[in-house]
Amino acid sequence: MSTIESILNETRVFQPSEKFTQQANIPSIQAYQALCAQAQLDHQGFWAKQAEELILWHKPFTEILNDKTPPFYHWFSDGELNVSYNCLDRHLATQADKVAIIFESDDGEVIQSTYRDLHLRVCQLANALKSRNIEKGDRVIIYMPMRIEAVVAMQACARIGAIHSVVFGGFSAKSLHERIMDAGAVAIITADEQVRGGKHNPLKATVDEAIHMGSIPSVKSVIVYKRTGSEISFDPTRDVWWHEIIQDAITQCEPEWVNAEHPLFTLYTSGSTGKPKGVQHSSAGYLLGTKVSMQWIFDYKPSDVFWCTADVGWITGHSYVAYGPLAMGATQIIFEGIPTYPNAGRFWEIIQKHKVTTFYTAPTAIRSLIKLGADLPAQYDLSSLRLLGSVGEPINPEAWMWFYEKIGHSRCPIVDTWWQTETGCHLIAPMPGAVPLKPGSCTFPLPGISASIVDEAGHDVENGKGGFLIIKKPFPSQIRTLWGDPERFKKTYFPEDIGNGQYYLAGDSAYRDHDGYFWIMGRIDDVLNVSGHRLGTMEIESALVANPLVAEAAVVGKPHEVKGEAVIAFVVLKGQYPQGEGAIRITNQLREWVAKEIGPIAKPDEIRFGENLPKTRSGKIMRRLLRTLAKGEEITQDISTLENPAILEQLKNPSK
Ligand code: PRX
Repeated sequence: MSTIESILNETRVFQPSEKFTQQANIPSIQAYQALCAQAQLDHQGFWAKQAEELILWHKPFTEILNDKTPPFYHWFSDGELNVSYNCLDRHLATQADKVAIIFESDDGEVIQSTYRDLHLRVCQLANALKSRNIEKGDRVIIYMPMRIEAVVAMQACARIGAIHSVVFGGFSAKSLHERIMDAGAVAIITADEQVRGGKHNPLKATVDEAIHMGSIPSVKSVIVYKRTGSEISFDPTRDVWWHEIIQDAITQCEPEWVNAEHPLFTLYTSGSTGKPKGVQHSSAGYLLGTKVSMQWIFDYKPSDVFWCTADVGWITGHSYVAYGPLAMGATQIIFEGIPTYPNAGRFWEIIQKHKVTTFYTAPTAIRSLIKLGADLPAQYDLSSLRLLGSVGEPINPEAWMWFYEKIGHSRCPIVDTWWQTETGCHLIAPMPGAVPLKPGSCTFPLPGISASIVDEAGHDVENGKGGFLIIKKPFPSQIRTLWGDPERFKKTYFPEDIGNGQYYLAGDSAYRDHDGYFWIMGRIDDVLNVSGHRLGTMEIESALVANPLVAEAAVVGKPHEVKGEAVIAFVVLKGQYPQGEGAIRITNQLREWVAKEIGPIAKPDEIRFGENLPKTRSGKIMRRLLRTLAKGEEITQDISTLENPAILEQLKNPSK
């Protein structure tokens, strides 16, 4: 409640400056409202107009929205296009020599790639993929470092109509294995190693481990980009070097024209069960979402140097690194490293060096940089910046103010963008030249996005009251289905009991204040948001229970100063309740175990042991009590239904 209360008290309002407004794509609140009114009047016509203007169609569409089989909506579905063509070829006639990507490596080496060069690289790899018999509709796993090549790999898949599924380089072999299996991937594109913060992470060895975890007959090729030249094992029947297969590949590749609804990619994300969900996106609707939001929310200008710090392993790195900026013909930064290496001034140094104009990052990064060097930004020239952005979790007003004053010098609006893996692009975010900002609020929905807050019966709640965040009407960039699991898709996002299955349920709670501003309060399901990354509590519980020492586990979140939320695990061992040294040893063992099972981001911050977990008489774990215990608060809730009240005492303290 404390964070919600502090947000409730927030009364500061920041008007866009005249200087910003004068050059803005949407220069006034009236202009924003006019767009909303157009969309309100003719939802489909509004989106059709955007799609006609922003996408280069190989074959124009005649049908706008096909809603005959809800919630499986199809947009522009008889149109044909190619996303890579829309991101690269379209710029060749007008700005082939414009820099598309300024890449900075972990150790500071800078490489630039123009649109001409990027197009050539994508065509070469696309031809090389084709020569490995990878075809339209095939799934390709990408497990790559943050380098130009990661974007080339994604774009090459898009060019030939293969469906990519990027797996974040921090995920373990087990997580990778699950995703390869679920996707039925025919190929994996990876690197020998990844380098971040001076540390080497052996990606290829992890791929090998994932493949050997069980038979994966579908994988015919592993394409390896040589990043460090370190020793790796090589299976000549399956493994090929990136630089070798592109050597003879021709530098032109006719794009595969695909249907608007052809899946561009799947991306796995956590849900409230143990199994990650393969969120499937379309080609045209997704591309359209990234483009309109680049214009409306990032106020894109051809002179911008755009920098989204997200890794391509997450949706933010898809929409605002691999696709949106390229579709607009932007110059963007790709950074291989981490914000704190070699010191906490690295982000500010990059902004200064490359004259970044638009800087988009996560609250967790901002908070950690405040902690490590609140005054460091003053040592850098940040005058090139004109717009700041935040994504992934609610930004607390204190971090917002620091970002605004110390980074933006009270000159740059901050766009706090609410969206999700499933929505493909921003849905609730300010148009920076039009909307007055309130620190901590993502403000208003984009035109054509019918966001609302409803109660359990699906009725709108009045301003000031909390409820479920939903989207009433279909929108082009929304998730199409869950890969291989349409039933789960329907049940999760269009539940019958809220609005009769008509509404897209985001899984967040939110409220609107008396001015109609949206404030996100947090997840309504068992999903944690750790450093802006989604983690399912069930996923971590399943990982813990898979350890031979563990009988039972329950995972909850606890507010954390830097990460937003920290993972706290309550564990019952099969053997004796551990104490002292033993408890510490097993804690370390289990933390490493989770890192290995899922990835280091899922490691519990704390593990507390008990002889049992607090359960109702019917055996249900009482998580609300565990949440209170995790926060170190006294239990004031009703515990009359609790089977074993004595257990609470044992679970109060972390093992020391
Ligand atoms: O809870 C919301 C939070 O992140 C969730 C989506 O996570 P993911 O699919 O991993 O995508 C993150 C990047 C788009 C949401 O359900 N979230 C995201 N952005 C915000 C946010 N919460 C508050 N404010 C935001 N700006």
